[in-house]
Amino acid sequence: MLTLSNIVKVYGRGRHQHLALKGLDLHVEEGEFFTLLGPSGCGKTTALRCIAGLEVPSSGEICIGGAPVYSSERRLRIPAEKRDVAMVFQSYAVWPHMSVAQNVGFPLDVQGLDAAQKKRRIQETLELVGLSAMANRPATDLSGGQQQRVSIARAIIRGSKILLLDEPLSNLDAELRVQMRNELRELQQLLGVTTIFVTHDQEEAISMSDRIAVFNHGELVEVGRPIDLYLRPRKPFTATFLGLAELLPCTLLETEGQGGTALVKASFGEVRASRVDACQGHDARLLIRPEHIVLQPAASAQHGQANSYRGIVKKAAFAGRYIDYQIQLGRDTIAAQAPSTQFHQVGDEVAVHMPADRCVLLES
Ligand SMILES: Nc1ncnc2c1ncn2[C@@H]1O[C@H](COP(=O)(O)OP(=O)(O)O)[C@@H](O)[C@H]1O
Ligand SMILES: [Mg+2]
Repeated sequence: MLTLSNIVKVYGRGRHQHLALKGLDLHVEEGEFFTLLGPSGCGKTTALRCIAGLEVPSSGEICIGGAPVYSSERRLRIPAEKRDVAMVFQSYAVWPHMSVAQNVGFPLDVQGLDAAQKKRRIQETLELVGLSAMANRPATDLSGGQQQRVSIARAIIRGSKILLLDEPLSNLDAELRVQMRNELRELQQLLGVTTIFVTHDQEEAISMSDRIAVFNHGELVEVGRPIDLYLRPRKPFTATFLGLAELLPCTLLETEGQGGTALVKASFGEVRASRVDACQGHDARLLIRPEHIVLQPAASAQHGQANSYRGIVKKAAFAGRYIDYQIQLGRDTIAAQAPSTQFHQVGDEVAVHMPADRCVLLES
C-alpha cells in the first residue's frame, strides 16, 4: 500500500544543513496499523509530511497503492490534495467558529456532493467516533478527547486510502490517552484503513500496532511486530527504547547451540541465551529485562539449575505492584523487578534465575 525507497530529507543549506532522513526504506501493507516510534527530533514528523506531500524529500521515491507519488529520478511530485491521504496533527486543530458537524464535513466541500449526501456522510462518520449527539455544538465546547475525535472524524470522512496520525494522543491527559488508544485501534480495525501512526511513547506503540518501525537520528533501526521487538530485539537501541533493559557485557563461548541458542560467559557465570542475529566477533551483550528475572531466597534455590546464580541484594524499593531491586552479580549490578509477594532485604543472598528464552544476545 505504501513504499518509501531511500528517502533523504535535508533541511536548510550550507552550514545550517540538517540531514533529517538518511535514506529511509519502509513498506507498509494494506490495512496495517504501522507505527513510527522514536525519540523527539529523530525525523518521524518529517517522514509523515513527506508521505502526505506537505514536505518535498531531497531524493528517493514514494509509492502509494503501487503508483509513485514522488520520485526524484523521474522528477515526479503529486501534490498533497491528489494523494488520497488524510492526516491528523498533534494539535487537534478544530475550527473554533464551526460546529462539530461543519468541522467534520469540511473536507467534503471539494467533492461536489449534494446537501443530503453530505449530511448522511457526516452523520455516519460522527456515529463512528461516538459524537452524534454533539453534531450542532461549537467544536471548541468539547473536551480535549472529543476534539481529537472531531479531527479524526474529519480525517476519515473522505474514506482516504491512508490515514496518517502524528502523535494524536499526546495532548490528552494520561487516563484519556489510554482510553483513546483502544478507541483509535478499534476504529482503525472497523474501517480497515492503512494507518501510519507516529509516537515517541513505546507503550502506545506496543499496545496499538501491527508493526513498529523504530527510528533514531533519521534512520530506521529495526522493524517488527511489537512482541518480537520487545522479546527478541536485534539492536541495543530497540532493546532499551522499548522497555527497561540490562545489557551486560559477555563473551561468546559456544555459538551454535540447539534452537538458535548460544552459550556466553558473563562476569557472574555462563549463560544460555537466544541468538536472534548473527552476532559478529567474540564480544557481545546479553539483554535481560528486569521483569523477567526470577528471585528466590538462596536457601530454597534448586542446585545446578541452568542460568541460576547467587547474588546479593544491594537495594530494594517498594513500588506497589512490584519491588525494584538492585542485585550484585559478579562484577555487574543488575536491576530486577519482582512481585511484591516476597520481600528480600538489603544484604540478603538470593538465587537469581534468568530464563534462557528471555536472555537475548546482541552486538556489543
Ligand atoms: N522546517 C524545518 N527546518 C529545519 N529543520 C527542521 C525542520 N523541521 C524539522 N527540522 C529538524 O529535523 C529533525 C527532525 O524533525 P522532526 O521530523 O520534526 O522530528 P520528530 O517528529 O521525530 O520529533 C529535527 O532535528 C528538527 O529540528
Ligand atoms: Mg514530531
